[in-house]
Amino acid sequence: MQIIITSPETIKESAQTFMKAMGDSTIFAFYGSMGAGKTTFIKAVCEELGVEDVITSPTFAIVNEYRSATTGRLIYHFDFYRIKKQEEVYDMGYEDYVESGALCFMEWPELIEELLPEDVVKVTIREQEDGTRLIEF
Ligand SMILES: Nc1ncnc2c1ncn2[C@@H]1O[C@H](COP(=O)(O)OP(=O)(O)OP(=O)(O)O)[C@@H](O)[C@H]1O
Ligand SMILES: [Mg+2]
Repeated sequence: MQIIITSPETIKESAQTFMKAMGDSTIFAFYGSMGAGKTTFIKAVCEELGVEDVITSPTFAIVNEYRSATTGRLIYHFDFYRIKKQEEVYDMGYEDYVESGALCFMEWPELIEELLPEDVVKVTIREQEDGTRLIEF
């Protein structure tokens, strides 16, 4: 499936389309170069899911936990950008998060590629020449 975010003004619609396509999957890995728009899109999707918490890039914490105010479901937002060793990933409790059944959105999954579960949904975000963002999954 492809979604094009034509501008920041239409990101809400794009997030809604994505949310409807998520189905029963819980683990989503967002690939895309620096500045492609991973955090921005994850934030928009979380807002559509009813998260009222502050959503920021969890670069320093590696993982942020949010709760949907509408469904009560937990959402984990990871950013593996600063990961240097697989050990750090185990130490932060990665396996428990992934096996919890909660929704997991991951930035920089390529840094933990070998640790991604089989049922991960791979999403790529690309900035196109005209500044729009192409999302494919
Ligand atoms: N759909 C969009 N349309 C226009 N600008 C966008 C869009 N998404 C993100 N941006 C802009 O691009 C910049 C980088 O976005 P963002 O932080 O979401 O990228 P990222 O992929 O998470 O980067 P990083 O790899 O550093 O985590 C921000 O200034 C943001 O405003
Ligand atoms: Mg980011």
